[in-house]
Amino acid sequence: TLDQSSSSAPVKYKVVFLGDQSVGKTSIILRFMHDTFDSQYQATIGIDFLSKTMLVDDKMVRLQLWDTAGQERFKSLIPSYIQDSSFAIVCYDITSKASFEHVRTWVEDARNIRGDDVSIIVVGNKIDLADQREIYTEEGTKLASELGVEFIEVSAKAGINIKALFKTLASNLPGAD
Ligand code: GTP
Ligand code: MG
Repeated sequence: TLDQSSSSAPVKYKVVFLGDQSVGKTSIILRFMHDTFDSQYQATIGIDFLSKTMLVDDKMVRLQLWDTAGQERFKSLIPSYIQDSSFAIVCYDITSKASFEHVRTWVEDARNIRGDDVSIIVVGNKIDLADQREIYTEEGTKLASELGVEFIEVSAKAGINIKALFKTLASNLPGAD
């Protein structure tokens, strides 16, 4: 039989980023990929794709990141990317109550399409904007535990917890414990 650990080709995992317009999906991805941040908003048009190889427990893992657009007019594109993904990262902006209220819908969309075959992480972004906070950490924690998903708060701008987010993802890889 083939020994996965000694084969040179990395195992691939598809990860889809979901959440309302402007919550910071693209910024989180760019902080993780290139350690950069742009304060100028450039809406994602359609779907963007990026991939990165990570070392997880001595194994090469290739993450294929699908960055969706939060704008309503692109919504119809999203289900087929959820269909393909092992992970869904559902993002909201801690300064936007509306974006938090939509988290449940995004999680339900992913569950309806993928059932238990998708690992879901809810991410509260923009924690650098403490004075504009509308959603407290406890509310995020509570919703995530109700939905049975992982939860983390981050800041793409300040680079807080972005590595921790991808560590959480890595610890949920099939076969990891
Ligand atoms: P769509 O592609 O339209 O769905 O938006 P998006 O979710 O990809 O959001 P994007 O990453 O483009 O960020 C939207 C705006 O929020 C930009 O102006 C970013 O600079 C800003 N932003 C993103 N993350 C943070 C953060 O952690 N802190 C602060 N203060 N601003 C952020
Ligand atoms: Mg975007």
